[in-house]
Amino acid sequence: MIKLIKLIKQKIKIFIKYLKLGTCLGTKGLNFDQVLDDALVVMKGKKNKIPRVSLEEIVPGPITAKICEKETEDGNVSLSELLCIVSLIRHFKVNKIFEIGTFDGRTTLNMHQNSLKDPKIYTLDLPATDADKTVYELHDWEKVYTDKTAPGRKFSHLKDKGSIIQILSDSAKFERQDLNDYFDFIFVDGSHTKKYVENDTELALRLVNKEKGIIVWHDYDTEWNDVTNTMEDYYANDERFKDIKNIKETSLLFLRK
Ligand SMILES: C[S@@+](CC[C@H](N)C(=O)[O-])C[C@H]1O[C@@H](n2cnc3c(N)ncnc32)[C@H](O)[C@@H]1O
Repeated sequence: MIKLIKLIKQKIKIFIKYLKLGTCLGTKGLNFDQVLDDALVVMKGKKNKIPRVSLEEIVPGPITAKICEKETEDGNVSLSELLCIVSLIRHFKVNKIFEIGTFDGRTTLNMHQNSLKDPKIYTLDLPATDADKTVYELHDWEKVYTDKTAPGRKFSHLKDKGSIIQILSDSAKFERQDLNDYFDFIFVDGSHTKKYVENDTELALRLVNKEKGIIVWHDYDTEWNDVTNTMEDYYANDERFKDIKNIKETSLLFLRK
């Protein structure tokens, strides 16, 4: 107990030092945010290992985007994350998209509405009836997302439905080789277990266009620890991820081939 109190006191001391240093750097025009981030990392006792980048650095200048279904439901990306995703779609003019984790289809619909021409969106989700038959085990608390009757209901009204191809399958069983290298944008937001994050990441790397494709992951540095730890391991140990970035103020990771 005494040891713990000492440790907490030590951390508070370091935090105050960082704050003072940050204020001092700030007055000299240096990056106070970064110093504060580092101080918070010290407080949490854990290093946020993937570097951060602002959306402005990736997508400079204004973007006009169309947002449908502004209300966020449990399981959806946040509104600011949705804005980031559609900004990337518009800025990089992507139209061949693959999504892992359709859920209610809100992100699918918005990616579709912001693809500038002839979108082709493949969106994959686990059929509710297969939740107990997955190749790798799911977390119990993921069942609220897998247990749904109509994945993709938010885009069911679209007239050009042919541009959204819905696939009902476990992502660990998705084997189509004819789509390798085909997609210019992949959004990974399926199961949050380590095995599935690895499976879905390898799947994304197989399907993405190796010249100019983009992969975005959801749920980094959130309560889904397996996502954070798995992605940090990739960043630390695997050359393919050396350029991966966390988009500031979101749980999105961004990698451009
Ligand atoms: C958090 S939700 C996705 C939210 C969605 N991307 C959005 O922005 O609204 C996760 C989705 O992944 C799906 N999923 C979970 N395990 C899967 C698996 N093994 N294969 C395919 N999809 C899976 C779930 O059924 C659920 O719809």
